Amino acid sequence: MEFRINKTLTIALTLSVGLLAGSFAGADDDYREVREGSRHSRSQAAAKTPESALYKQECSSCHHLYQSWLLPARSWQAIIDDSDKHFGDDLALDDATRKELLNYLKANSSEKTSTKWAQKITSSSEGMTPKRIMDVPWIKKEHREVGANVFKRAGIGSASNCVACHTKAVEGNYDEDFIKIPRK
Ligand code: HEC
Ligand code: HEC
Repeated sequence: MEFRINKTLTIALTLSVGLLAGSFAGADDDYREVREGSRHSRSQAAAKTPESALYKQECSSCHHLYQSWLLPARSWQAIIDDSDKHFGDDLALDDATRKELLNYLKANSSEKTSTKWAQKITSSSEGMTPKRIMDVPWIKKEHREVGANVFKRAGIGSASNCVACHTKAVEGNYDEDFIKIPRK
């Protein structure tokens, strides 16, 4: 008897949670969810990269922390070498900090990461040193349907702002199931 009551309660609870979630999704008017045109796997697990407190401290105050597997080691080398003119900013890093950051970034670059996404980044950027993730040919191709004007929307700003559209980018999850493009 008790079991049955609990079961009914559980079902009722599950239903109301579902309805609640539904109403939140409905209220989400400023976003268009990208679901149509789904081509492939939802099985791509987010890459788990070891964290670095130093990397977080030095490289996430102006933008979100880009996962180290998003670029090949050559790119990280160039970015750290040019850190005194980093997209218009002087990051003012001392030698020891530069060295430690580079050790971390190279040890966990796209070449050192075995997930499908990282492998595509490595192979498609062979012979190049992209300083922007969107300059990686495979990444560029994946975004071919996103217009340049879309990246400039106030809610996005630029293609560098991955988190504006990839709601789980901070976790390294770029799966198409978690994309919401701000409408303005
Ligand atoms: C003082 C602010 C600031 C700090 C600190 C900073 N960045 Fe940046 N970073 C920028 C700006 C500005 C851009 C260009 C963003 C844009 O075009 O919208 C950028 C872009 C980037 C990009 C290219 C993003 C893309 O579109 O692919 C990478 C990679 C990057 N930063 C890595 C780093 C690393 C590594 C560090 C730490 C050593 C760091 N950043 C620290 C300001 C900063
Ligand atoms: C304007 C919104 C937007 C921004 C900003 C954006 N993306 Fe995307 N991204 C998309 C869309 C749309 C797709 C294509 C989804 C599909 O497969 O239909 C995509 C696809 C991807 C994929 C392929 C996913 C897969 O399942 O194959 C990766 C990886 C990715 N983006 C990474 C990034 C990174 C890293 C950044 C930042 C440097 C970024 N994106 C910025 C919208 C965006």
